[in-house]
Amino acid sequence: MSTASQPGSRSQEERELSEHFADEYKQAQTPVILDLERAVCGCDYGGTSWTTRAEAEQMGRLMELSGGRRLLEVGAGSGWPALYLAGQTGCDVTLADVPYEGLRIAADRAARDPVDGHISLAVADGALMPFKADLFDAVSHSDVLCCLPAKRGVLNECKRVLHHGGKMAFTVIAIAPGLSSADHARAVDSGPPFVEAECEYPELLETTGWKIVDRIDLSAAYAETGKRYIRELEARADEMSVLLGEKEFSELLVKRQTNVEAVEEGIVRRDMFVASLWGGESGL
Ligand SMILES: C[S@@+](CC[C@H](N)C(=O)[O-])C[C@H]1O[C@@H](n2cnc3c(N)ncnc32)[C@H](O)[C@@H]1O
Repeated sequence: MSTASQPGSRSQEERELSEHFADEYKQAQTPVILDLERAVCGCDYGGTSWTTRAEAEQMGRLMELSGGRRLLEVGAGSGWPALYLAGQTGCDVTLADVPYEGLRIAADRAARDPVDGHISLAVADGALMPFKADLFDAVSHSDVLCCLPAKRGVLNECKRVLHHGGKMAFTVIAIAPGLSSADHARAVDSGPPFVEAECEYPELLETTGWKIVDRIDLSAAYAETGKRYIRELEARADEMSVLLGEKEFSELLVKRQTNVEAVEEGIVRRDMFVASLWGGESGL
């Protein structure tokens, strides 16, 4: 299992992952990948999570976003889904992430596709954010906790910056509990880079002071999205092989197939959580 890093200090593995995401955000702006994303997730921001448009809209409703409310998206990448939600609801949005490259693309998109609300960007580690306490009315993240080791650090920071009465909504990919060591190892191999967590997410949320408002099992939808991705990838095999190279294209297909099998087998899952601060309902 990966060890949690201190807030602000990043391991070699984390730095390499950030570089990987930076490259991925640039590559995701090519027409064939934007077209693939439209066919799979119903959006074209160059996203790297598995959040579909319907799931983004569900998150927006659950966080009760509207004009004048302030949303923080942690691990915002190139703006999916927060920029989309800004357009849909009129809320203000702050996008925070480690690689600059994704945020740069989000800034271009915001300039091209203006929204009513205010958009700000911050190159920031989610476990050590440069925002004052109680600043935001909502916090979201899409498949971010499974891409970093400091899960507790990020949940603590999200708690610090969220206003009482606000909600945090996020999706996360996780390993099913109670697996044999062989299945556990297969689940780890088929998931995102930091899919292992020290405990299950309900416990992680409770022990970082969050009250769980809702938990929605997205595993079946995740498997369907994965199968759609494979079909759409195969339909663009020629263009994708030129873009990625034959070897990387075949490895990508195998990785996605292995992941779908793991989800269908129930050893990997994906959930949406909605959480609030204790006492938050009354604004105390
Ligand atoms: C699966 S991507 C999701 C990105 C985007 N929200 C989307 O849906 O396309 C996970 C994101 O988490 C970010 N991330 C990883 N470690 C982070 C950290 N310590 N603080 C903030 N973001 C981090 C990565 O840079 C990456 O952009």
